[in-house]
Amino acid sequence: MRAPYRVGLIGLGNVGGALARRLVDDADRIADTSGRPIVLEAIAVAHRDGRSAPAPLVSAEALLKRPNLDAVIELMGGLEPAHTYIYTALQSGRQVITANKQLIAASGPELCRLGPLRFEASVASAIPIVETLAETMASDRITSLVGILNGTTNSILEAMAQGASYADALVDAQRRGLAEADPSADVDAHDPAAKLAILAMLAFRRRIEPSQIERVGIGGLDQTELLGARQRGFVVKLIAAATVSNGVSIEADVRPRLIPNDAPMARVAGAMNAIAVEAAHAGTLTLQGPGAGPDAAASAVLADLVRAARDMPASAGALLASLADQPAARITPLGLRTPYPAAT
Ligand code: HSE
Repeated sequence: MRAPYRVGLIGLGNVGGALARRLVDDADRIADTSGRPIVLEAIAVAHRDGRSAPAPLVSAEALLKRPNLDAVIELMGGLEPAHTYIYTALQSGRQVITANKQLIAASGPELCRLGPLRFEASVASAIPIVETLAETMASDRITSLVGILNGTTNSILEAMAQGASYADALVDAQRRGLAEADPSADVDAHDPAAKLAILAMLAFRRRIEPSQIERVGIGGLDQTELLGARQRGFVVKLIAAATVSNGVSIEADVRPRLIPNDAPMARVAGAMNAIAVEAAHAGTLTLQGPGAGPDAAASAVLADLVRAARDMPASAGALLASLADQPAARITPLGLRTPYPAAT
């Protein structure tokens, strides 16, 4: 077996905690898969007092100065100081793994130019969509992406349609570790817009600025509308969709849409996500699975970590790096047209 692969973790919240547990509990299986033991050398947290963890707790600055780290995993979220930490780690030759969709959507191309940056966990958690688009489907021509990319709002809409109040449904999503630290990122659709921007960059190979994607959140929906839709044979889902025509014109938006009860997308329940990828040669592929929650996100981080330890290429990162000099694409909303009627 090869020498241990030494890792530093920044952030010990829901996802960081789940990852740290997996690294301890599944250490033998992970070593077999990676061809080498993976050793968690240190964990950076803002407040160390009284916390217990399976590795020494240090500051992020101290962690980044450790000379023997092969990889740094950023799971603190937000734009700063996460950007500075990732920049520093890449500049000093480390592999970096992150679940930070806001940061990858906004600055992924520039950061990925600095070194191997992996971000499978940034979109749809356990669903392996990022490397699938960048690696497995790289030789095809992808023409559209339609998906449910936010587990929090999917859970809230489902609970409300069954009679729960918006407030109770949101508290339940927070309790299960689905919601962002500031849940307005979920309910106002910033989170799925960032995820759609990442997927569209990988699928269409165009630079996408997430703020260019029109967003309509779920705040404007009330129970009467959800129940009324149900009586007419529809469920309301927050749908993220993007299409490209002639390889040039991109239409994209995130908004609540009416999904017919018998469509597969209507049965994507709770914190599940689904993504339908339409490809010119392969046809339409739909990937579905847990899209939020600590264990699901930790699984995707671990997949990237094993790829890094095995010296596999960071294909999605290389693809984003190739877009760094492009101007941002002009994006128009899909609006009331395909793929499903708008709910509001
Ligand atoms: N808040 C996000 C969601 C977490 O609910 O989908 C996973 O990215």
